[in-house]
Amino acid sequence: MKLPTIIEAEKLLNEAEQRNLRAWIGHSKTTAFCAKAIVEQCDNLNDDTSYILGLLHDIGRREGVTDMRHIIDGNNFMTSLGYDDCARICLTHSSPYKDIRSYNGQNDCTAEETEFIKRFLDNTEYDDYDRLIQLCDALALPDGATYIEKRLVDVVMRRGFNDLTIQKWKAFLYLKDYFDKQTGTDIYKLIGV
Ligand SMILES: [Fe+2]
Repeated sequence: MKLPTIIEAEKLLNEAEQRNLRAWIGHSKTTAFCAKAIVEQCDNLNDDTSYILGLLHDIGRREGVTDMRHIIDGNNFMTSLGYDDCARICLTHSSPYKDIRSYNGQNDCTAEETEFIKRFLDNTEYDDYDRLIQLCDALALPDGATYIEKRLVDVVMRRGFNDLTIQKWKAFLYLKDYFDKQTGTDIYKLIGV
């Protein structure tokens, strides 16, 4: 994997904060914290890699207040820096249920961008880093880790729901079970909720 160092990743997030200072910065730091805390109990994943991927999963929000297009902006920015594995996480983190129509919020991408995301997800077999960041995104409030149900309700209250929301929630709850099994414990104990 070609990744920025932790210091470089923190610098990228700090620069993004100057461009778009909002709650997503705290949310990104919480995601990184959760990823590291969970992976410390997983044999097959690296702590620092997980932390960096968590920190940068929403980096597309540096471009301003957007909705679904933050995932394509994140992909484009990370790709421009040569960090393809971070770019991949920008694209996969919002889709534990592999149908972009399940996205909570508006699709503010162009038709071509939407097709690109759709094709990328169709052609990508998720690995444990994809699953980990999808899970941690759903555990991370701006001021700290929380129960997955609380975060899912928080997202729906702000961005609405659609016909696929229940399927998406089931996919998140599956990820919670998956990492409970991977770590041999209840992940809530690891992230301190
Ligand atoms: Fe996120």
